[in-house]
Formats: sequence, structure tokens, C-alpha cells
Amino acid sequence: MARAAAGKHRKSTKFVFVCVGLLGAALITDLLWASSSSSTTFIPYKSSGTMMSWPPPESSSDSFLRNHSARGVTDKDKKDGIHGRILSKTFADLPGPELKWEKMTESPVPRLDGAAVQIKDQLFVFAGYGTIDLVHSHVDIYNFTSNTWGGRFDMPKEMAHSHLGMVTDGRYIYIVTGQYGPQCRGPTAHTFVLDTKTKKWQDMPPLPIPRYAPATQLWRGRLHVMGGSKEDRYTPGVDHWSIAVKDGKVLEKEWQVEMPIPRGGPHRACIVAGDRLYMLGGQEGDFMAKPNSPIFKCSRRNEVVYSDVYMLDDEMNWKVLPPMPKPDSHIEFAWVVVNNSIVIAGGTTDKHPDTKKMILVGEVFQFQLDTLKWSVVGKLPYRVKTTLVGFWDGWLYFTSGQRDRGPDDPTPKKVIGEMWRTKLSLPLS
Ligand SMILES: *[C@@H]1O[C@H](CO)[C@@H](O)[C@H](O)[C@H]1NC(C)=O
Ligand SMILES: *[C@@H]1O[C@H](CO)[C@@H](O)[C@H](O)[C@H]1NC(C)=O
Ligand SMILES: *[C@@H]1O[C@H](CO)[C@@H](O)[C@H](O)[C@H]1NC(C)=O
Repeated sequence: MARAAAGKHRKSTKFVFVCVGLLGAALITDLLWASSSSSTTFIPYKSSGTMMSWPPPESSSDSFLRNHSARGVTDKDKKDGIHGRILSKTFADLPGPELKWEKMTESPVPRLDGAAVQIKDQLFVFAGYGTIDLVHSHVDIYNFTSNTWGGRFDMPKEMAHSHLGMVTDGRYIYIVTGQYGPQCRGPTAHTFVLDTKTKKWQDMPPLPIPRYAPATQLWRGRLHVMGGSKEDRYTPGVDHWSIAVKDGKVLEKEWQVEMPIPRGGPHRACIVAGDRLYMLGGQEGDFMAKPNSPIFKCSRRNEVVYSDVYMLDDEMNWKVLPPMPKPDSHIEFAWVVVNNSIVIAGGTTDKHPDTKKMILVGEVFQFQLDTLKWSVVGKLPYRVKTTLVGFWDGWLYFTSGQRDRGPDDPTPKKVIGEMWRTKLSLPLS
């Protein structure tokens, strides 16, 4: 389980997707802080609720996605009415109930692309960008009982500052790879384990090859690391490695190569619940360092965001589950498991087809693990990506990330440290 440990919640990692041609659309903007405009009509996804084996039989929506992902959005697509109509549903806000949100104490620092793990009534919040030129190298802790921040401590100097893979067994936090430094710098293969009782760090064997934002989970006694972006920050990796761990100790000398994942890429949610491993959403492609930029200045590239959901169970082959209500990425630490449902807050969806700007997600989604049914259970106070989510005593909390420009502009702007909570009441299945 990734996050959690209070029995009902857990959390975890990230994921990814494969990518391909990036003809066109290598817009060079300076930003992670990109943005845009809004929406249209929503066509609900009809879920059959059934599972398929990987590779799935070709359906029109599968082949649409594949065609779409293989080519990105070209000018020809934009003129193609059908394509445009299908795209438009994905960046619109979906209808959902309003939730009553309460603003709590702000985090000591704002962060984007940080990481978080919940252990009982504590949310350990790691790293992240403060601004595009400044990264954090410490941990802040939020106590859900006292509703206060405290207990700041430093991370090891060699640890990545964003795009980390992270998971806990309830005491030890395993931390793998990620981006080292600000802007769009390179990744490190360094991995660590933190004992949250003693606040002591230990090294683990480095990942065979560094990755950005790989899906990371503990499953059946092994730490699994899957996908992410490759060393250029853009190319989706499909590699899957694992290593046996127990109580903060690594039991093997080397990472083992496991069966590759169906689709590579960063920023996916990866969750273990009921002895099954789930991977949800994510993307192919990401910002890259501008060639020859001495500061590794970020430049925007074509990205394809996915709604795909995959699962591993006893049979040890990837099964395809009903997709998310819309493509959703940047959700690696934006989830909890409550009452046999996965709850996911915010993220990023398909970019705007004309402006190519990044579009944020403002919904809270529920995925019922018994019926495999998706629903929108509420709206966040604003749209936000890479937010860090916890659940305690009936309250759903989120902090950090990058929020939208306002109700009418779903493009990213301010990096936040705000903490919010709402009383969550999931419909019974
Ligand atoms: C996807 O591409 C294939 C081959 O070009 C084509 O036969 C198929 O109709 C396309 N599917 C969709 C949904 O566009
Ligand atoms: C969280 O705060 C409560 C109330 O002040 C306190 O009793 C508890 O020990 C704190 N939790 C941790 C892990 O420090
Ligand atoms: C989970 O289930 C329990 C027991 O039915 C219920 O009291 C609680 O409100 C549920 N939690 C949420 C978040 O819906």
C-alpha cells in the first residue's frame, strides 16, 4: 500500500504512458506554469463493468485512443469535426455535487510536484517545487488530529526534489528516483528508506535506470517501480522492476526485472487494495529541458493524457478496467482508499485542442472496487494538479499543487500550500 496505513487509506504512486510522434506542437513556452481556456459538453462514458485481459480486444474507443496517442493532435484533427467533438468532452468540467470545504492551516511552503504519504493521523509531505527555480529538500508533517503543521526535517542531499516514487508500509517510507533540482533537470537513480519513528534515512540499491514519476507500490512483500518518463523526461518508460523489502530492510541485492506495464509514462496513481494492484490515469510525454539551456529551462512538449485503468491480480497479467470519467494525470499522491473505493482529487486532463494549454481537473472521483463503477462525488474548491490527499476521521483533506486561474479559466497558475478538508460521505454501492 502506498499511502497509508490507518486501515482505510492508502496511497501511492505514479504512472505513465507511452508516447510517440510529437510532430507539431512542441510549443516552447516557459512553463510548467502553462495555461488556457474552457469547455463544452460532456458525454458520459458507458461502462460495462467488465474486465478484459491485456492486450484487450480492439474496441472503437481503444483504437481511438491508440490512434490519438500515436499521433497527438494535428492540425488535420482539429478540422475534423468528429475528432474535435470527442476531444472536447474531456477538458470540460463534469457535473457533480458541491461539497462544503473548510480551509485549514496552510503548509509552511507552497509546493508543486511534491509527494506525500499518510501514516495514521500524520501526512508526511516531501520535496516539490516552490517556484520553477526553487525546489524544497525537506519534509513537513500535518497532524490530522490537531490539524497543525510541524516536525519539519531535512531530506538527504542526494534525494530527488520532485517526480519521486513513494510508498509506505505503515512505518517505513520507501522513496525511489525522481528529478534532481529545479526547472527540467535530470533524474537521479538514488533510492532511500525513511523510518518515520526515528526519522532516520537509509540508502537502498539504486534503481537500474533513473525515471521521472514512476508508479511505485508495495505488493506482496516487494517494492514495485513501473513506468515513468525516461531520462529525457519525455519518453515513456514501460520497464517494471521490483525488490523484496520488509520492515525497512531490503532483502535482495538487486532489482528484478518484471513484466513490462501496458503503457508507460509519468504521473499515474498506483494503488494496492484487496491484494490487487491498480494503475490509473497518467500521461505520455512531459516538459523537457530546452536543448543547450544552462539552467535546463523547461519547454512544453506534446502530451497525451489517459483515462486508462489497469490491474494486476493473482493471474499476474494486466487486466483492463473501466476507464476514468475523463483522462487524468498528475494524481500520483492525490488519492485515498476509503470503504473499498478509490477516491481521487483533481489532476490534469487533455490539453485544450486549440490553445494547447494544460487543463486542470476540479472533480473528486470515486471508483468502487466491487462494482468497478466510476462516479463524480464532488467538486474541489478549485481545479488543482499534483495535490496531496489524506483521509482521517471521515474528512477528506488536500494540500499543495498548482491551482487554476479561476472558475472560468482551468489553466494552471498559482503554486499553493493551502490545506482544505470536507466531510466525505460516499454513496453505498
Ligand atoms: C484507427 O486507425 C486505424 C488504422 O489507421 C483505422 O482503421 C481505424 O478506423 C482508426 N480508428 C479510429 C477510431 O479512428
Ligand atoms: C497529533 O496531535 C494529537 C493532538 O494534539 C496528539 O495527541 C498526537 O500525538 C499527534 N500525533 C503525532 C503522531 O504526533
Ligand atoms: C464508510 O462506511 C461506514 C460504514 O458504513 C460509514 O459509516 C462511513 O460514513 C463511510 N465513509 C465514507 C467516507 O463514506
